[in-house]
Amino acid sequence: MAKTPSLEFVHHPHPSPLPADKRAELLKNPGFGRVFSDHMVTIRYHESKGWHDARIEPRAPIAMDPAAAVLHYAQEIFEGLKAYRTNGGATLFRPEQNARRFQKSAERLAMPVLPEELFLESVDRLVDIDRAWIPDGDGSLYLRPFMIANETFLGVKPSSDYLYAVIASSVGAYFKTDAPAVSVWVSNEYTRAAPGGTGAAKCGGNYAASLLAQAEATRHGCDQVVFLDAVEQRWVEELGGMNIFFVFDDGSMMTPPLGGTILPGITRDSLLVLARDKGITVREERYSIDQWRTDAHSGRLREAFACGTAAVVTPIGTVRSKDGEFKIGNGGSGSRTEELKTSLVAIQRGRAADTHHWIHKVF
Ligand code: PLP
Ligand code: COI
Repeated sequence: MAKTPSLEFVHHPHPSPLPADKRAELLKNPGFGRVFSDHMVTIRYHESKGWHDARIEPRAPIAMDPAAAVLHYAQEIFEGLKAYRTNGGATLFRPEQNARRFQKSAERLAMPVLPEELFLESVDRLVDIDRAWIPDGDGSLYLRPFMIANETFLGVKPSSDYLYAVIASSVGAYFKTDAPAVSVWVSNEYTRAAPGGTGAAKCGGNYAASLLAQAEATRHGCDQVVFLDAVEQRWVEELGGMNIFFVFDDGSMMTPPLGGTILPGITRDSLLVLARDKGITVREERYSIDQWRTDAHSGRLREAFACGTAAVVTPIGTVRSKDGEFKIGNGGSGSRTEELKTSLVAIQRGRAADTHHWIHKVF
């Protein structure tokens, strides 16, 4: 990759950040994605100038022309990663993987590729300036880098103009449920991604396309939707916003293979590594909904869990579809799920040795 000319970030600190007592009130129970920090990063791109005008400034509405390309053709990508409070400092977990996935998403959406160093610098700077917004305890500061097409033009073509931005949200657990495990709804009517489509990219359009299926899941009393493949409507792919793993009675594990229709999750990849470190056999193989049901009934399948930055590792207890419902194990969590979650979180929170060099220190 070509070396990037470094960009000077102009700092405009917030003249009146939220007072500490009000912030503390918000951080007590932030939920997910509703509490935002004081600042944001923006960097502009124009095809004639490249990346320019990097800023850290007060978080504020973005003024844009109503003909901006993103509003019409959804040329938009994003990332999600968390900053953790660790030993008096702050760390990120494998942020270079988010930077690289952002580059791949950009390529797929015909957008300019943001250099990895600029991605890392942008998230580091935001965490640094908004460090007071990282919750204590189990919470974290969820960072949302994103890029939108900003050319004022109604023709269908890649935009000449883009805005990259990073915002930060103080978050707790993604799922509101107190249940020991979540329930999922298998969508038979809607698919998330087809071969040749944008399933492996983290673009807003994938999530827009998932909303009706997610609403259907909610209507059936489920926390998340499970998507099957678009060709045969048979193979389990992933959830609306997380990857999926299965644990069998012989101790082995399985997750669907990445094939262009599944988001290559960084949590997924980390769990594959951690499981193999523990000597667990993990296969990346296709698994059909029928086999899933059969194995749950026979007891061959012991556990299933969802994983992602927002969800971390969340056990799946109940699977519902138009054909009825089945439980996995006792419908709660399982020991392998808990073991992997504990190992992952211990590394992320600086409580276990970082043998794979996954931890990036911000300060
Ligand atoms: N799959 C989808 C559709 C997602 O939105 C996410 C969340 O980012 C994931 C999987 C998990 O990816 P990661 O572990 O990188 O957060
Ligand atoms: C994430 O885990 O970062 C996601 O983007 C998923 C979404 C459900 C918040």
